Amino acid sequence: MIKKGDDKAMIDGDAEILFNHQVNHDTWLLGLKRSEPAVTMKPGQFVMIRVRSGMDPLLRRPFSVCAVEKDHFKVLYRRVGKGTEIMTQAKPGENFQVLGPLGEGFVLPEEERLPVLVGGGIGVAPLFFLARLLYRRNLEFMMGFRSAGDIIPFDELRLPNHRWSVSTDDGTAGHAGFVTDLLLLYLDKNRGLPLSLFACGPRPMLKKTAETAITYGIPCQVSLESAMACGFGVCQGCAVKTAPQESSAYHYVCRNGPVFPAEAIDWEAL
Ligand SMILES: Cc1cc2nc3c(=O)[nH]c(=O)nc-3n(C[C@H](O)[C@H](O)[C@H](O)COP(=O)(O)OP(=O)(O)OC[C@H]3O[C@@H](n4cnc5c(N)ncnc54)[C@H](O)[C@@H]3O)c2cc1C
Ligand code: FES
Repeated sequence: MIKKGDDKAMIDGDAEILFNHQVNHDTWLLGLKRSEPAVTMKPGQFVMIRVRSGMDPLLRRPFSVCAVEKDHFKVLYRRVGKGTEIMTQAKPGENFQVLGPLGEGFVLPEEERLPVLVGGGIGVAPLFFLARLLYRRNLEFMMGFRSAGDIIPFDELRLPNHRWSVSTDDGTAGHAGFVTDLLLLYLDKNRGLPLSLFACGPRPMLKKTAETAITYGIPCQVSLESAMACGFGVCQGCAVKTAPQESSAYHYVCRNGPVFPAEAIDWEAL
């Protein structure tokens, strides 16, 4: 079913599972049929998935749109708890109830700026979508994982052949250290180049990326995660404190985000 809101159409109903396969030890790639191709999905937007009918788990779970193909869209998800465990059991031909796309996605960078994408762990999911959309442009994609076994196979997601680099916290693949170290190395080598940063990942990683961007004077958009009960601005469970210059004291990750300019967030309070 398509629902038309004030300014955008969305899916609110069953979406058929086309595939649901494991890509590494704790991560799956889910393909959901786009029975409503008129619904536009933008990088950074998310869908709420009800993993099972009935009372447990009752709440839908939020997942970034990771790629959009002609007849389906993809969600890359990590198994962390009950909902995602149930998702791993789902078979092609079955359905998930889906609501979305929701939220405000990334604003595309100006032509003259080189996009630099910084992803941590499963936070790479919305950045894959952004990288695909920017495939004609030169871009830099840095991804950080805990260990070699956590790396997402890029061919699964048909990541265009741009420059990308990997770091692992334990040094088992790529640069040994955090992805924010890779970012600092890159920035030091490319001083003066007009850049635009896009980041998604764990909060400490986002905080470090945001602080770096502000120090270097580079525009930066961050995609935040938070616990979400409704996903569309009703429960107020996803509030984050804003920086003092913002017009309201709180932003809602589901409705005002999940993507925010780095300077809009009070990083000390997060
Ligand atoms: C806008 C948005 C986009 C997201 N995109 C993705 C995505 O593309 N892929 C993906 O795998 N996950 C994504 N997440 C996180 C995902 O929603 C949660 O991992 C999922 O809801 C967990 O459900 P569960 O029932 O398996 O875990 P639960 O049983 O609810 O929780 C199990 C454990 O996971 C932790 N947890 C739950 N939610 C989160 C969260 N948001 N961040 C960190 N830890 C959490 C809990 O604290 C608990 O320790 C996104 C979250 C948001 C808000
Ligand atoms: S999740 Fe309910 S207001 Fe954001």
